[in-house]
Amino acid sequence: MTEEIVKSALSKVMYPGFTKDIVTFGFVNSIETNGNDVSFNVEITSSAPEVAQQIKDDCISELKAVGAGNIAVNVKSPQMPKESSSRGKNIAPQVKNFLMVSSGKGGVGKSTTSVNIAIALAAQGKKVGLLDADIYGPNIPRMIGVADVKPEVNGNKVLPIKAYGIEMMSMGSLMEEGQSLIWRGAMIMKAIEQFLRDILWSELDVLVIDMPPGTGDAQLTLAQSVPVTVGLTVTTPQGVSLDDSRRSLDMFKKLNIPIAGIVENMSGFIAPDTGVEYDIFGKGTSQPMADEFDTKIIAEIPIEPSIRTGGDEGKPITFVDPSSQSAKRFMAAAESIWATIEDINAKGGVDNEGVQPTTPPGVSACSTGGAAASTPQSSGGGCGCS
Ligand SMILES: Nc1ncnc2c1ncn2[C@@H]1O[C@H](COP(=O)(O)OP(=O)(O)O)[C@@H](O)[C@H]1O
Ligand SMILES: [Mg+2]
Repeated sequence: MTEEIVKSALSKVMYPGFTKDIVTFGFVNSIETNGNDVSFNVEITSSAPEVAQQIKDDCISELKAVGAGNIAVNVKSPQMPKESSSRGKNIAPQVKNFLMVSSGKGGVGKSTTSVNIAIALAAQGKKVGLLDADIYGPNIPRMIGVADVKPEVNGNKVLPIKAYGIEMMSMGSLMEEGQSLIWRGAMIMKAIEQFLRDILWSELDVLVIDMPPGTGDAQLTLAQSVPVTVGLTVTTPQGVSLDDSRRSLDMFKKLNIPIAGIVENMSGFIAPDTGVEYDIFGKGTSQPMADEFDTKIIAEIPIEPSIRTGGDEGKPITFVDPSSQSAKRFMAAAESIWATIEDINAKGGVDNEGVQPTTPPGVSACSTGGAAASTPQSSGGGCGCS
């Protein structure tokens, strides 16, 4: 009996409910053979006992068919979700914490920050998911080098794509390249809910969520669907950007989302040839805003050409150049965010009861214009967005 024979036998074992086998999924590891005896692990993403049992039975029968003797299959399932300290509605209960990354406007580095913070948290030993909820501009697949990867779809469930030690899903991975959709209120809400409910996220310590810029239906739907543990605002140092960022911080307050801090991006420029740091858009200008919202700047990320090329080429700086200034600052920011998350959970967690809709299902309490708009009396129904 060799590892090759074992693998080829196990590649006949389909993951229950899927058309793909457990070897192709990458669930099989630690294969050991001794004569005709075989032992190995199967790490699955479902905590349902019947799934584990079926895999075990199928593995044994396939291996017996190729002449295996004693067979030791260790099927490792994720733990059933632990009782979370957070209260209210949670349509993705296998995710322990949610980090909402927002900005007042596009182009400030929200996606860059989401990617690098997610990778930094994973490097710090957390099980991390990255949800690209920017349905208007889904850039994350390119930024982590999986622009051409299509996810495994089965029925109405989708497996997240894996890269750099994190799980990721994006509208960009679900649609054809260059295709666009015109998003209306009810569709935005449905998309956000499906990202949380119909993606087979593992048991995650934290899901980092790259939001569309601004404050709208997507933000409100997210806050109503899961208890968002913390919010992070990304800004650039110019005054006009700060004005928009204030709105993003104000939204966290109205949605009862604790603020983990501010990332001041494009804060100074580090010349690649000399390493000298120059101010271009300014630097440290977000401090008064941080004070105003009783929070802190958790990173000043300089303009570095390698951040841009890293984004374009799918090579995030925190992963490919961990000794760079920016990578170190993203790592420190991730530590700070995690400390805030632990602190919040130690104090009893978050509660999204106060932002639940009082309007009929499918109607956003905060939508104004548009065909599916809410009735005037339904707006401001506890969501605080009126
Ligand atoms: N600190 C930085 N240095 C250099 N380029 C950056 C930096 N931050 C972001 N960029 C680049 O700026 C562009 C916009 O950033 P992105 O993260 O896509 O912004 P957003 O998600 O807010 O729209 C991208 O091309 C990105 O690679
Ligand atoms: Mg973006």
